[in-house]
Amino acid sequence: MALLKIRHYPDPVLKNVAAPVTAFDETLRQLAHDMAETMYAAPGVGLAAPQVGISKRLTVIDCSSREEEEARLLVLINPEIIDREGESCEEEGCLSVPEYYAKVSRSAKVKVRFQGLDGQTHTIEAQGLTAIACQHEIDHLDGILFVDHLSPLKRSIFRKKWKKIQEHMTEQM
Ligand code: NI
Repeated sequence: MALLKIRHYPDPVLKNVAAPVTAFDETLRQLAHDMAETMYAAPGVGLAAPQVGISKRLTVIDCSSREEEEARLLVLINPEIIDREGESCEEEGCLSVPEYYAKVSRSAKVKVRFQGLDGQTHTIEAQGLTAIACQHEIDHLDGILFVDHLSPLKRSIFRKKWKKIQEHMTEQM
């Protein structure tokens, strides 16, 4: 068990298209475990492997509320959105872009095909926060950050704000 270092924008690893996972072995299980631990500690509701510097198609998501007794951890390996429906526009944040939030247009529901840690193929239908997290995390595997979905004007505002956020983070160190 280990907490992994979360990479921040504009780390180049976040821009890469991640490679498919081909080995369903102990190394993969350990990585998924450490990613989940890192996500819960942050805390966050989703984390993709590129965010910890590993360019592989693996993401962990848990959007269950704190009131629920059992956490519902999703480990999605080589995930693909195979169907989508409706529209949603909710405020998003990202562990790689701390302290910045913006509304992003997404599909309201998605059907995702993925492999589990055992290599078996599954599909899930997600809605609400989980649907948004699936789209956000799968974007990470294609080198896309939520700020890439903003209009050019909002993106330029983001870049200015980000400079200030980074200066602030440096001062705190
Ligand atoms: Ni993110």
